[in-house]
Amino acid sequence: MPSLTERYGQTALITGASSGIGRAFAHALAACGFDLVLVARRKALLEELSLELSKACNCHALVREADLSSAEDIDALLAGLGELEIDLLVSNAGFGLKGPFEAGDLGRQISMVNTNVIAPLMLCYHLLPGMKKRGRGGIIITGSIEGETGFPWSTSYAATKAFVHQLGGGLWAECRGTGVDVLVLAPGSTDTDAPRLQGISDDQLIGVMSPERVAKEALEQLGKRPLWIPGWHNRLFIRLLRVLPRGFSLKMAGVGMKKAIDNSQR
Ligand SMILES: NC(=O)c1ccc[n+]([C@@H]2O[C@H](COP(=O)([O-])OP(=O)(O)OC[C@H]3O[C@@H](n4cnc5c(N)ncnc54)[C@H](OP(=O)(O)O)[C@@H]3O)[C@@H](O)[C@H]2O)c1
Repeated sequence: MPSLTERYGQTALITGASSGIGRAFAHALAACGFDLVLVARRKALLEELSLELSKACNCHALVREADLSSAEDIDALLAGLGELEIDLLVSNAGFGLKGPFEAGDLGRQISMVNTNVIAPLMLCYHLLPGMKKRGRGGIIITGSIEGETGFPWSTSYAATKAFVHQLGGGLWAECRGTGVDVLVLAPGSTDTDAPRLQGISDDQLIGVMSPERVAKEALEQLGKRPLWIPGWHNRLFIRLLRVLPRGFSLKMAGVGMKKAIDNSQR
């Protein structure tokens, strides 16, 4: 099997590289010999990471500060790339909001839709044509197991992830035969800041995986299939929810989510 750089090219752009799964992608891709463009809002963390990767693997990692909930910032990010060709896009930045739908702040929900939905859409739209023209490239979009079925008490977040699952699935099929591989990565509970930022404490998480493992599996599966759910327990859970009657699976998903939120608040 040719290496990732042989298959896709030299430069990868990773959104959400300042922490968690995105940071793990940065380490893994730098070790594979990619040059990187690291994107997030926390510039200091990106600069620290860039330095670390340069020392560890001689990786050339550019830092790009951008708030991906802002279309202007995304335009500026793309314009700032200039002639630089992006061979592998890891559209990973995102965040979630938990709780009753109508109790959540609407502005935050819209910001989440912009970050989780509009940003991947715009990045794919602008970067895919170059990949197709060059006859090679890769796109990984981080979704979630929540994107595979509705998830009560996480309703808007699950809806954002359902969007990128359909986006990635459609692109996977459209890109067949073009040299461009597309993968939707659908992690379950992963040991990053995300669950805690959503108000779910560590002890409420089941079958937690490391971000390094999740990123590694995604890179292994790119080019092999349209969707990858890391962890057999997550794959089993989703398979079960898919075969059950829709109403029953929604209720079942909701019971687990509500319990995790309620227990975290105790
Ligand atoms: N952890 C889990 O259990 C889990 C499960 C399923 C799916 N996911 C998905 O995995 C992806 C990565 O999350 P994570 O678990 O690694 O959590 P994380 O450590 O909180 O990382 C989230 C990343 O997204 C970036 N980000 C968030 N909002 C942004 C914005 N408006 N503009 C630019 N960057 C933004 C953050 O950077 P800055 O804050 O520096 O901007 C950070 O680098 C997300 O899409 C998440 O939905 C996570």
